Amino acid sequence: MKSSKIDIFADDVYRNSIFIEKLNLSFCQFFVKSPSGSILCIETGMRDDFSQLKSNLLTVGINVGSVSSIVAPHFEADEMGALPDFMLQNQNLIAYAHPICSHALADIFSVKTRLLKDEVPITINEELIIPIFTKHVHQWDSLVIYIPRFKALFSSDIFMRYGTVDEASGSTLQGIIASIEKSGYLPSIDHLYSALKKIQKYDVDWIFPMHGPSIHNDAAATIDGLIGYCTKNRLKEIVER
Ligand SMILES: [Fe+2]
Ligand SMILES: [Fe+2]
Repeated sequence: MKSSKIDIFADDVYRNSIFIEKLNLSFCQFFVKSPSGSILCIETGMRDDFSQLKSNLLTVGINVGSVSSIVAPHFEADEMGALPDFMLQNQNLIAYAHPICSHALADIFSVKTRLLKDEVPITINEELIIPIFTKHVHQWDSLVIYIPRFKALFSSDIFMRYGTVDEASGSTLQGIIASIEKSGYLPSIDHLYSALKKIQKYDVDWIFPMHGPSIHNDAAATIDGLIGYCTKNRLKEIVER
């Protein structure tokens, strides 16, 4: 069974989430409203879920045709699958991605693309965003997005947790570690460590993972704690090699 809902954070961040009971996993798409009212989408969700996404957005007054820009954090169905459906609603849509991903998007979908550069700020829809490349964390073209206005990290597959997007009881960090160990979705803890060290220097108040609850009160501590977990386990990984 699937269920879905929309949540709003810090007035301008809309999160559509779809929970798939069979997988015990949620899939989130984020929509950031700029001061002028234009909408930036981070993660499109899958094609199969597009009509549900479209009607959920309408309940909060967002017409999917007003999505003018999309960030695809890597080339994978839940991150960019519904791109053609968004394009049908807005022919002027621009997709932003890692160079490897953006070439693939332009070739397959003939969408207008802009290449993001690692930790080079860019203004999209009047919103300053900082892409942070998180190479080889699960995919080689992976990146996350930091938006200074909200001190928010849109962390894609990093900080994922099983379960719904509702706040889980117990430790955030332990929930994330348990999910990493259960899923085996990371090719190497060493790559996660490198990504987290890059992320750690940003002032993060909010983390919005694609899978699982948002993290607010303990965002910085969660980043530090996960670095601690990686520090221990990357050594083990090197010894085992
Ligand atoms: Fe992914
Ligand atoms: Fe994902």
